[in-house]
Amino acid sequence: MKAVCWMGVNKMSVEDVPDPKILNPRDAIVKITSTCICGSDLHLYNGYMPTMEQGDIVGHEFMGEVMEVGPSIKDSLKVGDKVVVPFTIACGQCFFCQKQLWSLCDNSNPNYWIAEKIMGYSPSGLFGYTHMMGGYAGGQAQYARVPFADVGPIKVPQGIPDEQVVFLSDILPTGYMAAENADIEPGDTVAIWGCGPVGLFAIVSAFLFGAERVIAIDRFPYRLRLAAEAGAETLNYEEVDSVLNALKDMTGGIGPDRVIDAVGMEAVGHGAYFAVDRMKQMMRMQFDRPYVLREAIIACRKGGTVSVPGVYGGFIDKMPMGQYMNKGLTMKTGQTHMMRYMQPLLDRIQKGEIDPTFIISHRVPMHEAPNMYKTFNDKQDECSKVVLDPWADGAIAA
Ligand SMILES: NC(=O)c1ccc[n+]([C@@H]2O[C@H](COP(=O)([O-])OP(=O)(O)OC[C@H]3O[C@@H](n4cnc5c(N)ncnc54)[C@H](O)[C@@H]3O)[C@@H](O)[C@H]2O)c1
Ligand SMILES: [Zn+2]
Ligand SMILES: [Zn+2]
Repeated sequence: MKAVCWMGVNKMSVEDVPDPKILNPRDAIVKITSTCICGSDLHLYNGYMPTMEQGDIVGHEFMGEVMEVGPSIKDSLKVGDKVVVPFTIACGQCFFCQKQLWSLCDNSNPNYWIAEKIMGYSPSGLFGYTHMMGGYAGGQAQYARVPFADVGPIKVPQGIPDEQVVFLSDILPTGYMAAENADIEPGDTVAIWGCGPVGLFAIVSAFLFGAERVIAIDRFPYRLRLAAEAGAETLNYEEVDSVLNALKDMTGGIGPDRVIDAVGMEAVGHGAYFAVDRMKQMMRMQFDRPYVLREAIIACRKGGTVSVPGVYGGFIDKMPMGQYMNKGLTMKTGQTHMMRYMQPLLDRIQKGEIDPTFIISHRVPMHEAPNMYKTFNDKQDECSKVVLDPWADGAIAA
């Protein structure tokens, strides 16, 4: 089959690789009909996530048709079912799965010992996302093996277009959990850094949780336009001297009640701390550039909540812990506990309460993935979200 493979820093390539096979009784093989490039994939592309190996199949946002199921999959899944597969892999039976902390499953990362060295304990396995997170082949491919297939994949109606539901694989639940983690109370003002797909779905979700105002921060006008269309007030951080002062002014001097870092480890910034972050990251002495995390903590009003869907890799410097402590803030974060949100969000899509397609800018055949990684990474061509078709030959209209 064809698959998108990580061949080194800034090198993605479509390769011929062996078809996946059922390895365990609870596996399924899915023929992939749509798969997306995520902001998280950019951390791999740019070489900031440790334990990638040349030839690894990437991709964790995919859906398709069940081709084959292992002998232990009984009624939950049948050949021919149309499914969306969550990016986190969970067994459904361990202590953490029982508590619905799906992205912290204790049984789905065979390489747990690598993660334990860095984090103390290992989170769940993830599709196409480093050997530290399990070394699973990803879903930017024509087929994928889905472990614990009786737990993760959600069945979707046959008639529904892929693009309506494919974001249930990650970013829609991620934006939703980001808003839930922000503890929004009716009337709150929520500031969201990053108007990529995660930030955009966090905006939509913040309003569902009762936010009165959402202030969205980014520097790309086309992304800020999407944020405005979703109902946010926008702040171009390149057009103000200080984001902190601008937020203060916009909130009557009190600061936003809730802040969401939907940027993560590749934030762009300025000043001395940022210069040090950048240098250390380039020298591979530090995984992260936590510019936005610091700014969000300092911007948040006293007693507010900091929600962090943005991905971080390891130890960070100059964490404003004194500010965080003295202002009495709360922080919530994590890889998304996907299986909590997929069915309720599918219901909302079917009722017409959410139309996730507004974030899509590019629908292209998978063989264009190497170019699209560059385009999405560089935010060129008004690229907000790329959906790949693993089977198409020619171009698909945008
Ligand atoms: N927690 C999870 O389960 C989960 C799931 C999916 C994605 N993520 C993470 O969410 C983050 C965003 O993903 P995405 O797909 O939206 O990525 P993206 O790259 O499309 O968007 C990031 C945005 O942040 C903006 N940005 C950079 N510096 C900024 C600053 N100083 N202030 C304001 N905005 C700034 C960029 O201009 C860009 O528009 C990534 O870190 C990704 O890994 C987490
Ligand atoms: Zn993703
Ligand atoms: Zn588990």
